[in-house]
Amino acid sequence: MMLIHNKHEHYRTEIDLADEKLFGQKAEEDAVVFLSHHDHYNVTPLISLSGLAEKLQIGRLLVKDEGARLGIGSFKGLGGYHAVMRKFLKEASVILGREVRIQDIADPEVRSVASKMAFCAASAGNHGRGVAAAVQMLGATVYIYLPEQTKSEYVEAITKYGALVRKFPGSYDQTLVAINADAKKNDWFLISDISFIENDEVTSWVMQGYLLILKEALEQSVQVPTHIFIQAGVGGLAGALAAQLRIRYGKNCPYIVIVEPVGAACIYDSIEAGELKKIRHGLPTAMSMLDCLQPSLAAWRILTRTGDSFMKINESENKEALALLGKPLGNDPVIKSSESGSAGLTGLVKAIHHEQMRSAIGLDLNSCVLVINTEQAN
Ligand SMILES: Cc1ncc(COP(=O)(O)O)c(C=O)c1O
Repeated sequence: MMLIHNKHEHYRTEIDLADEKLFGQKAEEDAVVFLSHHDHYNVTPLISLSGLAEKLQIGRLLVKDEGARLGIGSFKGLGGYHAVMRKFLKEASVILGREVRIQDIADPEVRSVASKMAFCAASAGNHGRGVAAAVQMLGATVYIYLPEQTKSEYVEAITKYGALVRKFPGSYDQTLVAINADAKKNDWFLISDISFIENDEVTSWVMQGYLLILKEALEQSVQVPTHIFIQAGVGGLAGALAAQLRIRYGKNCPYIVIVEPVGAACIYDSIEAGELKKIRHGLPTAMSMLDCLQPSLAAWRILTRTGDSFMKINESENKEALALLGKPLGNDPVIKSSESGSAGLTGLVKAIHHEQMRSAIGLDLNSCVLVINTEQAN
């Protein structure tokens, strides 16, 4: 079985008070203020696929299409930009001895501070692109570390923003080790989308950027979804959205399913083991942005409390679901997605095909399911 229910001892307990603050309404509103200063700030579409919903025999299927987010092809720019700006403003305020606000980043004195700073990030591709784009807006220096096998499209997209790119043999997790060491050695500001310690300010800022996705989707939707399927790498996206849903809806929270590739299901395996685990690399996956071997601590803390089910998907299931977006039914529009971008939908389609999973998750004609196309086709 490739689906497990959450049996963690913290399941359905209250989320931490600190997380309520980090991912509640005030945090959403603050993130909007920051993001509205982004050069390419936009609200992405929420698309209702009624043809596909009918085929899957559910009431409604909503796709939040993050492909065009901030002009960088994925949702990741939300977190990268938010964290870079927060970190910069905090440091610049100390250096200049006065409060520096997001409205002040074009001020020559502030730009002069930025020009002497260096930021860095490890990435499977998209996080690096978001961080590089944000740092370029400040006029600072940025180093991005990528796994050796990162596709050239991602590398080019990152270097386009003036980033200095280094590639490392092995997985994303190995680039994390290298960037942590080099950030300390060189006094670079590390913008990490995975946390290894409690109260990691920067990773929380990254996750807060993602709150815009659901904030917008809930404003765009005519009904509150009954289910959400969220794909996970280190779980930052899933953790932020799950906390947000729990804070908004409490006991009436939509049913949350976390979806991962079978070869890199670090959250699934951790839930199964009852503790956070670093897993070994399994089968290779085309869902390269989800190819992560350990969950972020912040995501783990939230998902043990809020994730209802955890699912592994394989390559052929993913291919089939991706094709559904490319060849729409009835009046449904085409949604251009990638293997990583369509993985949440793959989880839904898989559950529908398996009677046992379908009824365990409670999917039927009354269900309104939300999935996120996290990335445009590449
Ligand atoms: C396209 C895409 N989808 C999903 C994810 C998963 O996000 P997270 O690592 O926060 O779980 C990523 C992460 O980089 C991504 O790039």
